[in-house]
Amino acid sequence: MRLYITGGTGLVGSNIIKVAQEQYSDEIIASLYGPPPEGKVDYELDPLDMGDHDAIRNTLRKYKPDAVIHCAALLDQVMMYKQRKSSWQLMVEGTRAFAEACREVGARFVFISSDWVFDGMEALVDEESPPFPVNFYGVMKASSERELSMMNGLNYAVGRLAGVYGINYALPSALRKDQGLGFDLGNYVIDHLSQRRLVGVWSGPNVNDIANPTLASDGAEMLLRLARHNANGIFHCFGSESVGRLEFAHEIANIFNADHSLIAAVPTDPEVLAAHANIRIPFRTRASVEKTMQTLGHGGLGVKEALQVYKKEWVVYHA
Ligand SMILES: NC(=O)c1ccc[n+]([C@@H]2O[C@H](COP(=O)([O-])OP(=O)(O)OC[C@H]3O[C@@H](n4cnc5c(N)ncnc54)[C@H](OP(=O)(O)O)[C@@H]3O)[C@@H](O)[C@H]2O)c1
Repeated sequence: MRLYITGGTGLVGSNIIKVAQEQYSDEIIASLYGPPPEGKVDYELDPLDMGDHDAIRNTLRKYKPDAVIHCAALLDQVMMYKQRKSSWQLMVEGTRAFAEACREVGARFVFISSDWVFDGMEALVDEESPPFPVNFYGVMKASSERELSMMNGLNYAVGRLAGVYGINYALPSALRKDQGLGFDLGNYVIDHLSQRRLVGVWSGPNVNDIANPTLASDGAEMLLRLARHNANGIFHCFGSESVGRLEFAHEIANIFNADHSLIAAVPTDPEVLAAHANIRIPFRTRASVEKTMQTLGHGGLGVKEALQVYKKEWVVYHA
């Protein structure tokens, strides 16, 4: 399959490329926006800004991929909150431009969305649960999902992700290892524990306290299955179990044989809270992966299982 991947230098995109090449022998073209991959790569890089909608159309006309997996996105909540018009142009209008170009060239379109389309206040959410975003990033993801569902003749799937952790194979030095208000604390915990540094897990206020953490390579597997499937609609490409932040940190310590006494619950950093004033974070999201399991034959690994796989990836990568 000829795959066009946006955001291939990112955490998710670099894992999709790796799995697509190793497991599926796909031909890869990856859009390039910022710095190029740190090592030599054996796929084509296509310089592209998702804000340039003519360039998006021209590039898909040129490459005529079988499928596009659209990972590129803004993740800086403060920047998006402050610069709403330009963020909307990149995130929502850029996604529409990719979808329209896919429809024109007959490619399947897989759009990466997020569990942050929910407010994190429901007992359990599935793909039929109405979105209820509480911040601008969530609004943009939910708006894109809605637009795609209303486009006639589009062959598409939305793959939602949550709390992604893993190795960035394209730009390892750019991998975020700091703790944020979101559930993407896996890399922070592993990095700190491996250096025997204290892990202060933010316990509130305004943090994403429960989510279905997703190993990047496992999410990649589900997204690649979606690219090959013909079902339209939304799919939860999450790890199959939800877990709290503190419990997740202890699960990591278990699997990585690290010292549990390094882990403690601490209040959310006041400076980070101040920087995110007026930006609400979804609280506790527990999501079902039943539909994905039934449709794709794989509904994401459980917490322990995924961490075991990650430990192997970590050992191989750092050997
Ligand atoms: N990480 C999570 O926990 C999480 C959770 C739920 C959903 N998601 C979704 O998963 C997807 C991938 O996230 P990630 O964690 O892999 O993020 P990431 O590591 O920050 O990667 C984002 C990618 O988007 C590219 N990009 C940014 N602005 C661009 C532009 N104007 N034109 C073209 N490319 C641009 C970046 O390129 P540069 O690096 O060169 O700027 C980077 O390659 C996103 O859609 C995100 O919303 C992530």
